[in-house]
Formats: sequence, structure tokens, C-alpha cells
Amino acid sequence: MGIKKIALGSSGLKVSNLGLGCMGMSAFYGETDEAESLAAIALALELGVNFLDTAEIYGPFKNEILISKAIKGKREKFIVATKTGVEVDDDGNFKGVNGSPDYIKKAIDRSLKHLETDYVDLYYIHRIDPNIPVEETIGAMSDLVKIGKARYIGLSEASASTIRKAHSVHPVSALQTEYSLFERSIEENGILETVNELGIGFVAYSPLGRGFLSGEIRSLDDLAPDDWRRSNPRFQGENFKKNLEVVEEVKKLSEQKGVTPSQLALAWVLQKGYSAIPGTKRRKYLMENAGAAEIEFSEKELALIDNIFPPGVASGERYPPQQMSSLNV
Ligand SMILES: NC(=O)c1ccc[n+]([C@@H]2O[C@H](COP(=O)([O-])OP(=O)(O)OC[C@H]3O[C@@H](n4cnc5c(N)ncnc54)[C@H](OP(=O)(O)O)[C@@H]3O)[C@@H](O)[C@H]2O)c1
Repeated sequence: MGIKKIALGSSGLKVSNLGLGCMGMSAFYGETDEAESLAAIALALELGVNFLDTAEIYGPFKNEILISKAIKGKREKFIVATKTGVEVDDDGNFKGVNGSPDYIKKAIDRSLKHLETDYVDLYYIHRIDPNIPVEETIGAMSDLVKIGKARYIGLSEASASTIRKAHSVHPVSALQTEYSLFERSIEENGILETVNELGIGFVAYSPLGRGFLSGEIRSLDDLAPDDWRRSNPRFQGENFKKNLEVVEEVKKLSEQKGVTPSQLALAWVLQKGYSAIPGTKRRKYLMENAGAAEIEFSEKELALIDNIFPPGVASGERYPPQQMSSLNV
């Protein structure tokens, strides 16, 4: 029990089962606070959480720069995962999905500069480019491993067939996809089956349903006016109301178990043997989330959870239409 190091698939990469999603420290989820974020990353390491998740597009670049400050002088203690494949120019303007070898090779140098390091532990393709064979994209990633700029490679939001093609070019260490009590579609579309078969590690992003499962978001007024979640169908109109009812069930179960709703949601992912990277910019939530690693469910409790939160339980798509169409699933 407790936070522990797990192998991400069979490639040799080891990470803490509870990771830290750093996105919200710099982007998408309202106000930011650099001092508190740096304190949270420092606390994470003390708690045994060494797996940091970022991407060039978070900020853009601001999140990688924040992480450079957090890891300075203790680089080797962290497993730093960043992502490319959604192009941003040097001024931070979004240009769309781009999996071309030229872009990948340019992007890693920019990420290394921002992170102030000479290697990334885990380099993900953030979105799959429909116009470029994934084998070409992965060929470029493989070259980065050969020259030591990346230690391991991963994919995010890739379909079962894309994962297979990618893995035939270079071993894929991790697949990162949304997974939580709210979002279980990978159990049904062959993705989990494929990663398990190929020995690829699984990293669950948004394991708290983008904060919904914590029970702290009761109305849209709880989100800043520019919070990205306001554009997420699950946070809109009737969907929001129905999803609050699902959250009530999480609350009831967590009360019975004597834990918090966030801890219950995270423990469910961890018990499956996956890594979960809940996002927070605060030490308070991080401490609470770390407690999830102490929780164990009996078979009976797991069956009850399956019954209450079957795949498809959340109302609404998990992204607005345009972003939904950029998922390779
Ligand atoms: N690959 C991809 O396409 C992709 C997409 C989305 C996210 N990600 C990665 O996954 C990470 C996590 O996902 P996420 O941040 O979208 O969603 P999440 O982890 O499901 O939820 C994050 C939200 O929950 C809140 N929270 C965390 N712990 C809490 C607690 N104990 N009590 C109450 N509220 C709590 C956070 O609040 P505060 O922020 O106020 O602390 C934040 O608003 C991101 O940081 C990012 O690195 C990857």
C-alpha cells in the first residue's frame, strides 16, 4: 500500500503510480499561482510522487518553464513526461495537429530548452496526425531515443490500430488517455486490451473527471470565466445537472468507505495497476490525493462501483466537437 513505483509496461520505465498533472498550474483551469505550484511539486517529491506530466501546448510553454524551476538541481529525481504533435509556433500560436518528423525534431529541442534539461524521460505524441502515417512520426521519435533526447516514447489518445502500428516501429512505453469513473470507453473500444497485450503502460489522465468527481464543483460559478471546462459538454446545461447526480453517488460511496470522493475516484484507477496523474495546483489537494494510495477495495466493493458507474455513465461528450474530432479513437 501507499504510493509506489510501478513499471510502465515492459520497456523498463518506472514511475510513481500516483503522478502529478501539471497542466492546470499554467493553463486552462482558471487562476494560477506559481509559488504554490512550485511548493506542490516539491511536496510531491517528498510524498514519493516523481512523475510529472506536462506538454509544450500548456501555456504554451509556460508549464514546461514552470517545471524547469521545480526540477532544477534535482533533475534525476523526477520522471518528466512532455508531449508534442499539436503544433504551436514560437510565439505560442496554435497551428493544429502536426506529426511530421520535421516538427517533432524541432519541438523536442524547444521543450528541452524550456525544461532546462538535456533529456525528456517520456515523450508523448499528444494527438495523432491523420495526414501522416504514424510510422513516420514514430520513426522520428525513435531517432530522438537513439540520440538520447528522449528516454522512452508514448502516445496520447491513440486508437488500438494506431497503437499497434506505432509499437511495430519502436516500443511504446505508455499510452495516456482520459480514464475515470466518468470515462471508461477504453474498456470497450479495444484500447486497454491492446496495451495490455503489447506490454504498454497505461496512464490515466483527468482521473477526477476534470475535477467533477471531487464533488467540489457544484455550479458553473465555481469555475473562472475563462476556464476551459465551460466549453466542455459535460459541464453544460442538462449534462451538468445529470453529472452532478452521478457525483452524488460518488459522495455516498466515499462516505460509506470513510474517504473523500477524490480519493475514491483515484483509488479505483490505482487498484487496477495503472498510473493516474490527477491535476492540482495546490498542496492541500495533493496531500488528499496521496491518501488514495492507502485505499483498497474488496471484490464486492469493486462490483458495486462497476454497477453504479458503468461505461457511458457521464452525460455529454468529453470534448467540444472540434476537439472530439481530433481524437484518434
Ligand atoms: N493527454 C491529454 O490530452 C490530456 C488532456 C487533459 C489532461 N491531461 C493531463 O492530465 C492531468 C490531469 O487531468 P486534469 O487536470 O484535466 O483533470 P483531473 O485530474 O481529473 O482534475 C483536475 C481538477 O481537479 C481539482 N482537484 C484535484 N484534486 C482535488 C481534490 N482533492 N479535491 C478537489 N478538487 C481537486 C483540480 O483543482 P485545482 O487545479 O484547483 O488544484 C482541478 O480543477 C493534467 O494536468 C494534464 O497533465 C492530458
